[in-house]
Amino acid sequence: MITLAVETSCDETALCLYDSKKGPIRDVLLSQAKVHSPFGGVVPELSAREHTRNLLPLLELLLKDTSFDLKDIDFVSFTLTPGLILSLVVGVSFAKGVAFTLGKPLVPVHHLEGHIYSVFLEKTVEYPFVALIVSGGHTDLFLVEDFGRYRFLGGTLDDAAGESYDKVAKMLGLGYPGGPVIDKLAREGEPKYELPRPMIFSEDLNFSFSGLKTAVMNLIRKEKNFKVEDVASSFQEAVVDILVSKSLKALDKTGIKRLVVVGGVSANSRLREVLKEKSEELSFKLYIPHPRLSTDNALMIAYAGTERFKRGITAPMDINPEPNIPLEEFGKLWS
Ligand code: KG4
Ligand code: ZN
Repeated sequence: MITLAVETSCDETALCLYDSKKGPIRDVLLSQAKVHSPFGGVVPELSAREHTRNLLPLLELLLKDTSFDLKDIDFVSFTLTPGLILSLVVGVSFAKGVAFTLGKPLVPVHHLEGHIYSVFLEKTVEYPFVALIVSGGHTDLFLVEDFGRYRFLGGTLDDAAGESYDKVAKMLGLGYPGGPVIDKLAREGEPKYELPRPMIFSEDLNFSFSGLKTAVMNLIRKEKNFKVEDVASSFQEAVVDILVSKSLKALDKTGIKRLVVVGGVSANSRLREVLKEKSEELSFKLYIPHPRLSTDNALMIAYAGTERFKRGITAPMDINPEPNIPLEEFGKLWS
């Protein structure tokens, strides 16, 4: 079974050909980071225009030098939700165009489901497990009971963790995306500034990052001669502390010994380091995909799409993208 997968929910245009038996045939990805960097964040209209400009050349690149004929795909997988609506519209229209022309079924995928299943591209995880999805748009904890069966445990009440990285980077004049650059600078600095860890002691599994971002803003206003590496390091320690503490609380509350950590922020070197230490100390199994699979890509959409197709789930041709269908609900649609 072979799928063409399409991902355009945010600022990465990504396509992939994936064989359910042999794995990835080829994948291509074009990041728009340079386009958005001067603005310190993703500009939705620019993102949609870039997807429109790049999808067809990327499809040509995907097929170039392969003996693969697009007619041989069995179905088209695509990100339906959540994401920037203008960007989703471009990808969904493209997926429909290919499916209609070739007479193949359309398989809708939830972007967060894609992120969760990014780990399965490397290793199968036994159910049930706890998933921390930590990206530019989300910071959520889910209990994953089976494919398509997700229980929301908690999430951010304001900014997502990746968003706070991007906003802090913008304050420090470091461009977009902020995560990779802060990650790198933090390793060269000392966590010498005391920053708050909002909600770290709350009994629930919710998060809050906006107070931390404000505290960084106040810090750089007050401290005239700060070292950017030290601010980066202090900020990163706070984010990692919060993410680790809530993930451990989720394992504790559910009694589950398997933690999956996915999404762009799971590429963070310090988060990986601390979680690995904790998994050894507390004897739970930790699954984090390769950093290339942490950030947005079409491979994860192909994997989740294939699982959906195997279960007979396809979408009608008049399906429309939605900016935000909750994952729990999506799992129940078309089932
Ligand atoms: O999953 P993703 O590619 O897109 C969304 O679905 O949002 O995540 C992008 C986010 C951005 O906020 C980016 O700054 C953050 O992931 N990110 C990181 C790192 N690499 C990417 N955050 C912290 N450390 C990193 N190494
Ligand atoms: Zn994502």
